[in-house]
Amino acid sequence: MDLKTQIDLPRLPKHIAVIMDGNGRWAKQQGKPRVFGHKNGVQSVREITEACAELGVEYLTLYAFSTENWSRPAFEVNALMTLLVETVRKEIKTLMDNNIRLTSIGDIEKLPSKTQKALKEGMHATKGNKRMTLVLALNYSSRWEIRNAVQQLSSKVGRNELKSEEITDAMISEHLATKSIPDPELLIRTSGECRISNFLLWQIAYAELYFTDVFWPEFRKNNLYEAILDFQNRERRFGKTSEQIVTK
Ligand code: IPE
Ligand code: IPE
Ligand code: MG
Repeated sequence: MDLKTQIDLPRLPKHIAVIMDGNGRWAKQQGKPRVFGHKNGVQSVREITEACAELGVEYLTLYAFSTENWSRPAFEVNALMTLLVETVRKEIKTLMDNNIRLTSIGDIEKLPSKTQKALKEGMHATKGNKRMTLVLALNYSSRWEIRNAVQQLSSKVGRNELKSEEITDAMISEHLATKSIPDPELLIRTSGECRISNFLLWQIAYAELYFTDVFWPEFRKNNLYEAILDFQNRERRFGKTSEQIVTK
């Protein structure tokens, strides 16, 4: 039976986050250079973005480049940055046609100026779009944003604008790069790796984690539907007992 029609739309996650992994290994499997994998990963980005918008997911966050990824060979880093510029430029029209807003989380100012420019243009052009928000995590790491939040809050304490005992969870969330974006309910990682790699550590406190062996360039709409169906078959207890959930 068609996987899409099995999805219970009223129980769709509002926010799905994806660690797009396995581009390099996918390319290597076919005797191609790693960058070939990154290029093919773009089609998966397109399909998953479209699938989420069609279903009615409100936020889709894609981990595209971590602060740790700067440690890769310069050739690969440059290729990724160029690919980003090309992709954002090419996709603006599709984002407009589908009413999708593009935004980003991460230390954007440290990206090469061409990448920044393309990204800022894309975000500006799509800022009024309402159907879905596509969040690109670029030069992002969770420890970076948590450190920033701690620095901002502690300087408020230093200026006597806030007492340290008044700091709440909500205040911490508001000082992260994801402020005003709800926490993801579902986190998907492709390629068989079962780790978080410095992604949304605070925000995934209660997310359901879904790991699949499929490499990112092969991840298609049906793979996403499978992940959502898996999510919908889980019982989210938030510390309560199963009986409490059933009886409310
Ligand atoms: C994910 O694929 C893309 C980025 C991290 C930019 P990888 O490039 O990590 O591919 P593998 O994990 O080496 O196969
Ligand atoms: C995580 O993938 C970062 C992105 C998907 C952008 P990596 O491939 O960089 O993660 P590690 O190094 O295997 O943990
Ligand atoms: Mg990887």
